[in-house]
This record gives sequence, C-alpha cells and structure tokens, in this order.
Amino acid sequence: MPLFNVYPLYDVTPVSGKGIHVYDDKGDEYLDLYGGHAVMSIGHAHPNYVQAVTKQVATLGFYSNAIQNPLQKQLADKLETLSGCKDYELFLCSSGAEANENALKLASFKTGKKRVIAFSNGFHGRTSAAVAATDNKNIIAPINAQQAVTILPLNDVEGVKTELEKGDVCAVIVEFIQGVGGLDQATADFFEQVDALCKANNTMFIADEVQSGYARSGKFFAFQHYNVTPDIISIAKGMGNGFPIGGILIHPSIESKFGMLGTTFGGNHLACAAGLAVLNTIEEENLMANVNQVSDYFFEVAKTIPQIKNIKGRGLMLGLEFDFEVGDLRKDLIYNYKMFTGGAMNKKLLRILPPLNVEKKHIDLFFDALKKALN
Ligand SMILES: Cc1ncc(COP(=O)(O)O)c(C=O)c1O
Repeated sequence: MPLFNVYPLYDVTPVSGKGIHVYDDKGDEYLDLYGGHAVMSIGHAHPNYVQAVTKQVATLGFYSNAIQNPLQKQLADKLETLSGCKDYELFLCSSGAEANENALKLASFKTGKKRVIAFSNGFHGRTSAAVAATDNKNIIAPINAQQAVTILPLNDVEGVKTELEKGDVCAVIVEFIQGVGGLDQATADFFEQVDALCKANNTMFIADEVQSGYARSGKFFAFQHYNVTPDIISIAKGMGNGFPIGGILIHPSIESKFGMLGTTFGGNHLACAAGLAVLNTIEEENLMANVNQVSDYFFEVAKTIPQIKNIKGRGLMLGLEFDFEVGDLRKDLIYNYKMFTGGAMNKKLLRILPPLNVEKKHIDLFFDALKKALN
C-alpha cells in the first residue's frame, strides 16, 4: 500500500541516534540541529530515557484512564516543581494539536462563548479548532472554516481590545515565540496588555507552549519572560523526547467536571514514564542553564557572519534570517555537511532547534559548515 503522499522528503534514512547525532543507513553521522521539529529535548537515546521507557514497557505499557495511574500525579508534581506553575492542574493528551484543541474547548466551556482571537503567522496544529486558529489558508478545510476565529497582527493591542469588548471571545491564543511562522515575538507591552484585556473581558488567555515550552526558550515557559498569567498553557513536543505526549496546564479558576475532556491514549503509563525521564533529566543535567549558555554563544558567533541579516528567537529556539530563500542552503547542509536544520513559513529563515544538551563545540561545527556553505 503506498503512503499518502503529504510530506516532501529529504533523501536521508536515519536508523539510529545518540545525543546530538543521528546515523543513516549508510553509516553517515549527522549533527541534529533541528531535533525533529523541536521534539528531541534531551537528545537521542539518552540513557535515562531508554532505561525508563524500557522498564515501563516491560512492566505495564498501557491502561485506560478509568483506573488509578500514579505516574500521572508524579509527572504533574515534577512539572509543577520545574515550571514554577503553582496551583495549575494538568490534563494529559498525545499531541500539540490535541492540547490546543482541548485548551480552546475548555475556554469555550468556561466562558460560554465561541470566538477565538489568534495572530498572523501563528501555528496551533491541524485539528478542528486548532487549525482554524492557524494563519495558513492552505491547511484549513471547509469543515474547519466554520469555527469563529479572528486573526490579528501581532502587537495590535487596539485590535485585541476592540474585538474582546464585543463580548463573544472565549480565548486569545498566542505563541510567545512563533515557531513554524518564523521566530517572531510580540513586545512585552503587547503580551502584558493582552493578558490584562483577557482578564477584564472574561476571555481565557492561552499560551501555546507546544514548541517554546520545556526550557527551550531559556526559561521553563516562554511566557515566563513576561509578567503574564495564562489561564491555559499547552505543551507537547519536548515533553516526551519523541514519545507522543501533550497536555494542558489549567488555572484553578477553571473547574473540572467528569467527562468534560477525555482521551484513550493521553497520560498512559508509557507516555508518563517518557515524560518523567525528560523532566528528571532537565533537572539533573541543569539543561536550562545549558540552554542559556549555549544560546549566548550562538548569538555571539552568529553576529560575526555578515550574510546573516537577523538573529531571531531566544534560548535554543533560534532563527537565522538571510536575504535569500534558504531551501538550497538547507539541502547543502544536509547532503554535503551532514547537518539537519529547519525551515519556516518565512522562506528566508533557517531554524535551529537542537536538543537542550547541545554543546558549544556543536555550535562551532555548525557555523564552520555554514560559513563554507555560504561562500
Ligand atoms: C506552536 C505549536 N502549536 C501546536 C503545534 C501542533 O503540534 P502537533 O504537531 O504535535 O499536533 C505545533 C507543531 O509544530 C506548534 O509548533
């Protein structure tokens, strides 16, 4: 049976990975500066992760959400400690889109309203409400277009105010650092005013931390660079280091009710074991400090390369902007320099999303290759 052909593929077949590297079927080593779309938080085949997942699958891989699963509470407690998000409650699911879908649904349940405000170039996933809140007409099917969504430009405080005061908006959803769009960030003043406007208008403020969360921005969550209190925080990508797991942190002002949200796979034993191994490793290896050190170094070196017109992002969620489209440069980096990097909606942007335990020596290897490729 042929595969449904929706992904343009590079001609590379990784068969194993270790740390910041992956190895293909010919034995070639690649430097992974993309982490499979920001998923690989603690690196490939991390021993803590391999041990935790192996032990769990050999013990109890799965049972449904109809029984006690103490691993879920352990994960929630560890997440509370490392994120500093005291008092929030956790609902577990299996992907970023599902996290945002549940976040938007919860906002609508809580407020009794149904319109969503989202932002230009934002990406929130491919399920019904999440894709409708995504600024990309090519991936919104007619069945998704029935959702009431208004897309505004980032930094348009007046626009947000006007829309919220109409009284029908259940949620404002925002990426504090845009991922797929191309690493744009609104101003602190914008985020803080939107937070206040949401609170004044009975609208839920949703921080989409699917890509920017889990220490990637240099704080546990990217919203923590600002003085805001989201009502719902969605998480996924880095959470399971490749195991499909997502979730939402829910402010206690939103009350739970039996049956309000649910899932078969979300929060299963294996997912929780993977999630716990990631959090334990972020803590034990002090990866947040590493993110900040390596990020500073990355900015320092990037500034010395004249072809780089703009360095975007924070922590290890980074973008290098050029005055040409980077498609061919990415191919050159993969095929000739054996390095994975990413692209974005902004075609002139090279995205860098390495595992959080990347070292300065890997950044040196990248910039050496980039300089050669550019020349
Ligand atoms: C900010 C953001 N939200 C949501 C999603 C959707 O996540 P998933 O692909 O796991 O459904 C993505 C994926 O790229 C993302 O970057």
